[in-house]
Amino acid sequence: MDQIVVRGGQRLKGRIPISGAKNAALTLLPCALLTDEPLTLRNLPRLADVDGFGHLLNQLGCSTTIEGSRPEDFGRVMTARATTLTSTVAPYDIVRKMRASILVLGPLLARAGEATVSLPGGCAIGNRPIDLHLKALEAFGAEIELASGYVKASAPGGRLAGGKFTFPVVSVGATENAVMAAVLAKGTCVLENAAREPEIVDLCNCLVAMGAQIDGIGSETLTIEGVDRLHGATYRVMADRIEAGSYACAAVITEGDVELVGAKAAEMEATLAALREAGATVEEVKGGIRVAMSGRAQPVTLSTSPYPGFATDMQAQFMAMATLGTGASLFTETIFENRYMHVPELARMGCDIDVRGRSAVVRGVDALVGAPVMATDLRASMSLIIAGLAARGETQVNRVYHLDRGYERLEEKLQAVGADIERISAG
Ligand code: EPZ
Repeated sequence: MDQIVVRGGQRLKGRIPISGAKNAALTLLPCALLTDEPLTLRNLPRLADVDGFGHLLNQLGCSTTIEGSRPEDFGRVMTARATTLTSTVAPYDIVRKMRASILVLGPLLARAGEATVSLPGGCAIGNRPIDLHLKALEAFGAEIELASGYVKASAPGGRLAGGKFTFPVVSVGATENAVMAAVLAKGTCVLENAAREPEIVDLCNCLVAMGAQIDGIGSETLTIEGVDRLHGATYRVMADRIEAGSYACAAVITEGDVELVGAKAAEMEATLAALREAGATVEEVKGGIRVAMSGRAQPVTLSTSPYPGFATDMQAQFMAMATLGTGASLFTETIFENRYMHVPELARMGCDIDVRGRSAVVRGVDALVGAPVMATDLRASMSLIIAGLAARGETQVNRVYHLDRGYERLEEKLQAVGADIERISAG
């Protein structure tokens, strides 16, 4: 397994290109299943999960062709085309490696009237149930059966009727599956308390470009008028607001000055507010966002919540930033039940963090010391890199396959702004 080695002490200075958003790409790719025409996605990030999703689409009979990049994009162009589906089954061996595979459930149900998808199971940060995905689909007329670890869904008469569902808990993935199922329904589908993340807006905008009729995009109530068919489209994946926020935290902890090229301030207001609370200079510049810092971070009090609140995907990175800050910072993780796996690893570097249930108190220390640490999940891995960038000496981050799922060309991007970082391939 590859290892990433970071030698701390360098201030990050310069421009960091922000890639297409992983969590947008993973819900845009399954849209190709909704039509027999080609869907071309621009600015697709080079990530393990994107490649994995491409393989899953191929298993279902959807061709995927990677082209080069457009000059104005950092990502690649992929054209996906499901002329006819050869399967409606997403098997366990694929789904268990990539939870986002569950996002083929809605599109397969809409296109083929049936779908058999392995239950994704839990992961490091929580047990990740999919009950809300299934309840929303049932509200639209689907018949759902759970058997031998698989979800078997079908639409009576081959087409969802329509209906209304109010989410008791905001769920990004369940909202995505429900929207993709609804666009080809016979009638109207209404979702209340829907997730409002920018990635959902990206999904809805792409579906509209394909001929879907969706009202309330960006709000908590989505009204989808089913249509008989969708056509192909060309759509550009939004910039990754979590990648951008992650590098912003790296800039702050190293007292650097970076420009996040391609990042959109309007999509990350809570993150930018938290950076300013920590004492960073944050300003919109042409085509991106500048983040600069001198001195130690001020204490922050952050509680994760659905968009537009402070993103759970930013919690670990801000916690790493706070470890060298002044005073005590307080974090509360309200979305996932086990999203402090980075804490024991950060503690190995000399951080002072006290976890009490869903909350964690981080007391700033004067110095961190590099150490061998273990990546446990995607965002936890990034928090270890962030701490390593400011630690004295060398930090070896192991199991970096977690990082490769969500951060494209991480070491290249950091080297380009002065970080002393390298990947050691284990062969
Ligand atoms: C998406 O996961 C993201 N993944 C996650 O990013 C992100 O942390 C999460 O949304 C929250 O923003 C992708 O987009 C691929 P949820 P998702 O459904 O859809 C509970 C990363 O690091 N819930 O919004 O799985 C659930 O347990 C990843 O990039 C149910 O109870 O998250 C959680 O407590 C990690 N039943 C809460 O809702 C359900 O059916 C929010 O989960 C579904 C969810």
